[in-house]
Amino acid sequence: MKARQRQLRPLEGLWLAAAVVLLVASVGAVDKDKSYTIVGGGGTALRDFVSDAVGNATQDANYKGLYLPFYTVGTGAGQQGFLNNTYQYAIGDFPLSKKDYDSAQRPILQIPISFGPVVIIANLTPEFHASNTLQLSAPVTAAIFQGNITTWDDPAILAINPNLTKLQPPIPAGTKINVVGRSDSNAAAYAFSQWLAQASNGTWVLGVNKTLPTSPGVKVVTGGSNVTNYLLKTPFSIGYTDAYAGKKAKLPDAALQNEAGKFVRYSKANWTFPGVNITIPAPTADWSKFNLTNLPGDKTYPVVTTSILLTNNDLTGRETRGAAQKAVFGYLLGPAVQGAARSYEQFPLNNQFLNASLSAVNSIQVIESKDFFQADQLPKLGAPYNVNFQYN
Ligand SMILES: *[C@@H]1O[C@H](CO)[C@@H](O)[C@H](O)[C@H]1NC(C)=O
Ligand SMILES: *[C@@H]1O[C@H](CO)[C@@H](O)[C@H](O)[C@H]1NC(C)=O
Ligand SMILES: *[C@@H]1O[C@H](CO)[C@@H](O)[C@H](O)[C@H]1NC(C)=O
Ligand SMILES: *[C@@H]1O[C@H](CO)[C@@H](O)[C@H](O)[C@H]1NC(C)=O
Ligand SMILES: *[C@@H]1O[C@H](CO)[C@@H](O)[C@H](O)[C@H]1NC(C)=O
Ligand SMILES: *[C@@H]1O[C@H](CO)[C@@H](O)[C@H](O)[C@H]1NC(C)=O
Ligand SMILES: *[C@@H]1O[C@H](CO)[C@@H](O)[C@H](O)[C@H]1NC(C)=O
Ligand SMILES: *[C@@H]1O[C@H](CO)[C@@H](O)[C@H](O)[C@H]1NC(C)=O
Ligand SMILES: *[C@@H]1O[C@H](CO)[C@@H](O)[C@H](O)[C@H]1NC(C)=O
Ligand SMILES: *[C@@H]1O[C@H](CO)[C@@H](O)[C@H](O)[C@H]1NC(C)=O
Ligand SMILES: *[C@@H]1O[C@H](CO)[C@@H](O)[C@H](O)[C@H]1NC(C)=O
Repeated sequence: MKARQRQLRPLEGLWLAAAVVLLVASVGAVDKDKSYTIVGGGGTALRDFVSDAVGNATQDANYKGLYLPFYTVGTGAGQQGFLNNTYQYAIGDFPLSKKDYDSAQRPILQIPISFGPVVIIANLTPEFHASNTLQLSAPVTAAIFQGNITTWDDPAILAINPNLTKLQPPIPAGTKINVVGRSDSNAAAYAFSQWLAQASNGTWVLGVNKTLPTSPGVKVVTGGSNVTNYLLKTPFSIGYTDAYAGKKAKLPDAALQNEAGKFVRYSKANWTFPGVNITIPAPTADWSKFNLTNLPGDKTYPVVTTSILLTNNDLTGRETRGAAQKAVFGYLLGPAVQGAARSYEQFPLNNQFLNASLSAVNSIQVIESKDFFQADQLPKLGAPYNVNFQYN
């Protein structure tokens, strides 16, 4: 896979570099050979968000002098690459499994950086989409994806979508539901199946898995963009994918019934999870059971992944690179990246998570941390890190 990285061209501003080499490296270009390289790997659904975030970091006056390639190999491969020391960090949309957590031979941290909705998209008629939103409960969704419900006029679908019965022109009786599934391991399947396992009142019998078995007759593809391609070209189809791939397809997402019984679209949800008591594991703990699926609250969206950063706890051995790496993680939690999240169909951390994640980043051991994290160590919530990264 190709790393996406926005860098200035090597010659731009090179003349300046000599003059400012002992100053904060806020001007001039990055010469890859002389800059600090910090390699990351991770999830394809986060490709643009993380690549742009680390690309922007290298353009930020405080973080210049860094070269930050991010390889979008998939969450699982990113985690493996981190565990075998190919990558200095990984960012993906599910936590380490218990097995991988136990197999890590060194202290590692898992640190949330954003939330990612998973959507269910159906391609119904233009007349339907013009003035209606498809509403789906977990039991009905489970039955559709298991093949228990096979037509759009099934009474269970009509019961929660009364507008379908009034539609002009109507969807013809007995119109088949064209379900698309994914055969590759993916975080959307994981969150989707967790929701169905938790909320479908026993209807879902296929378990919680990143690789979901599909019923006979279901179209099977690999990759979120192939799901949306299929949905776009297939009338009366339905599938699930990460919200970023869904948005690109320009097909409307369904409103999903949450724990409080309300139908909510992710764009209308409240991502601060108001009134919800979430237990955030310690950064050094096993996160394998952690999920934000089917949380209570009238405005809570029920199917959501957490974008999790994986890093070593002790970066002293990487010397200045380690301190720079810690600074970049601070940047990911700062207002520039958190404020940009929504344009990538990611949602910024609420204050509870932001506080926990900033504390986790601050606990990373580096040399000369005082040069990078000043005064009171923990920045105020939402305040930029004042890192003054020195390029020397
Ligand atoms: C990166 O910077 C561009 C230009 O300012 C901005 O539009 C985009 O949202 C930023 N992305 C991230 C992830 O910070
Ligand atoms: C480390 O893991 C990555 C991702 O799974 C893999 O491509 C690479 O070959 C592995 N490297 C080593 C040295 O095991
Ligand atoms: C059902 O139709 C009414 C009238 O067009 C509309 O106001 C309402 O938003 C529709 N409901 C849904 C869930 O789309
Ligand atoms: C629904 O489909 C699943 C999987 O194909 C099957 O195991 C289950 O028995 C079906 N449930 C009903 C009520 O038909
Ligand atoms: C859940 O399933 C049980 C047993 O089939 C049924 O009695 C109950 O009404 C269902 N609850 C809901 C909320 O659908
Ligand atoms: C998940 O799927 C894999 C591959 O299909 C299968 O081997 C495994 O048993 C499944 N795990 C669960 C918990 O269903
Ligand atoms: C889409 O499907 C094709 C054919 O199966 C496959 O070669 C390609 O890798 C898939 N794309 C993605 C993004 O997974
Ligand atoms: C989310 O809930 C909080 C707390 O009730 C409220 O202050 C905020 O305005 C809500 N945001 C949205 C988008 O509804
Ligand atoms: C939140 O949950 C934790 C553990 O589940 C519990 O100890 C704590 O009392 C709860 N706090 C509130 C305000 O409900
Ligand atoms: C998701 O979280 C809930 C609540 O903490 C827990 O009961 C459930 O087991 C978790 N699911 C998985 C698959 O770990
Ligand atoms: C912020 O995080 C620290 C360290 O985890 C914790 O002690 C403190 O209670 C948290 N504060 C809030 C407001 O959550």
